[in-house]
Amino acid sequence: MLKMDSLLARLERAGQSHLLRFFDELDESGKKALLAQIEAIDFDLLPELIERHVRSNAQATVPDDLEPAPYYARDGQGARPWDVRKYRSIGVDLLEQGRVACFTVAGGQGSRLGYDGPKGCFPTGCVTGKSLFQIFAEKIRGAERTFGADVPWYIMTSPLNHDETRRFFARWDYFGLDPANVMFFMQGTMPSLDKNTGQILLADKGTIATNPDGHGGSLKALHVSGALEDMKQRGVDTISYFQVDNPNVNITDPVFIGLHAAAPDSSAEMSSKMVPKTGPEEKVGVFCRSGGKLRVIEYSDLPCELASARNEDGSLRFLAGSIAIHLISVAFVEKINSDAACALPYHRAIKKVPCIDLETGRRVEPTEPNAIKLERFVFDAIPFAEQSIVLETDRIEEFAPVKNATGVDSIETSHRLQTEKAARWLESVGVKVPRRDDGTPDCVLELSGITAIEPAGLDRASLPDKIEPGAVVAI
Ligand code: UTP
Repeated sequence: MLKMDSLLARLERAGQSHLLRFFDELDESGKKALLAQIEAIDFDLLPELIERHVRSNAQATVPDDLEPAPYYARDGQGARPWDVRKYRSIGVDLLEQGRVACFTVAGGQGSRLGYDGPKGCFPTGCVTGKSLFQIFAEKIRGAERTFGADVPWYIMTSPLNHDETRRFFARWDYFGLDPANVMFFMQGTMPSLDKNTGQILLADKGTIATNPDGHGGSLKALHVSGALEDMKQRGVDTISYFQVDNPNVNITDPVFIGLHAAAPDSSAEMSSKMVPKTGPEEKVGVFCRSGGKLRVIEYSDLPCELASARNEDGSLRFLAGSIAIHLISVAFVEKINSDAACALPYHRAIKKVPCIDLETGRRVEPTEPNAIKLERFVFDAIPFAEQSIVLETDRIEEFAPVKNATGVDSIETSHRLQTEKAARWLESVGVKVPRRDDGTPDCVLELSGITAIEPAGLDRASLPDKIEPGAVVAI
């Protein structure tokens, strides 16, 4: 009873006593469950977040000294020439020593795609319809064969998709991977807030509405789940971080790994890949420098005049678009978790969240965005690295995201990019690929990671001499 009183007082102080409005209507187990959810909320932190992100919604300020981030050009040329072969060989060594793990953040809700299931299960292979998870699993199998070492795979889920994700892997027999090398763990959640009042929303009378705490929540979840400990026991010190929705990503890139580990201006804590932005309006974050530190400025925060500023040669001044591909050291994730000064900030997103109407007790399916979700972003960790580097990569080679049901970054665009990438790889070893007048492949092509993880790994002997116009081929 005393406990109940103190809980009530805490809720009242935080302006959240409505969470108990339907308490008396719940049965005993429902009451217990609701109390446990309330106790899990960080009431020391929440009021400040509500003040900042709901009541005042202070706009992000962009530092005055913002300048474009330097980056390593992918061909080793450009303003800071570098020896691609040397770094590649360093990366190959690390992979051969089994020091690199893959890490997929797959806890998002995938609301834009509108697929009923974890996004990683979405049929994505342009010929076979393989799921995203299978595409990555096959790349890992290819990498394990190429480097002769285990590549453990860590997959972050959320409470919304954890069980379904695990069942999917079990149903597909882990796509041929050793289940002992595939680890799943859940990310944390944050309460979803009413966008006008800052009150925590109730999903039903006994359940708080929550949302996954953003891909930035992965850095805490890696620690809390024991994944970091597991990595250390396996001798892994480098984490290859990528998003679940990008089938073209090179998840074990020796050049990137070598550069991250050994470039003179890298502290080997957190490194990133970039693609040159297609234009000022492209909606990707941009790598910048300020106060001597690298950081990503979100596209919505970069002032128009900076986003459209050009160099003398006509290229965009703020060119380096972030595609959410990073290498992160185990030690850096430990530092982020142990040093309070490295706490990642929260960002707000306005979304539609079904909830209970507090007056009527009925469930409402909002037609307009009604809620604020608070999320952390992984790239906010970059400025906490002593020295962080950026490597340019090629858009077709590494960026074919499936975000939307149609249009930009949809399954259609991803299929085209998968085919174009496969076409280039095949042509690089002499296979003739039919192309239309506009240069696009006149065929549909899909290359499995089991076949090769880079063009040089394609075995010419088992390839056709040419692809017929209109053919649909999986290799
Ligand atoms: P997105 O920003 O595309 O979000 O996530 P989303 O939730 O997948 O999709 P929408 O916005 O609802 O349509 C980028 C990556 O970060 C992961 C996603 O799974 C995806 O791989 N992510 C995002 C998480 O793992 N957890 C989160 O809380 C948010």
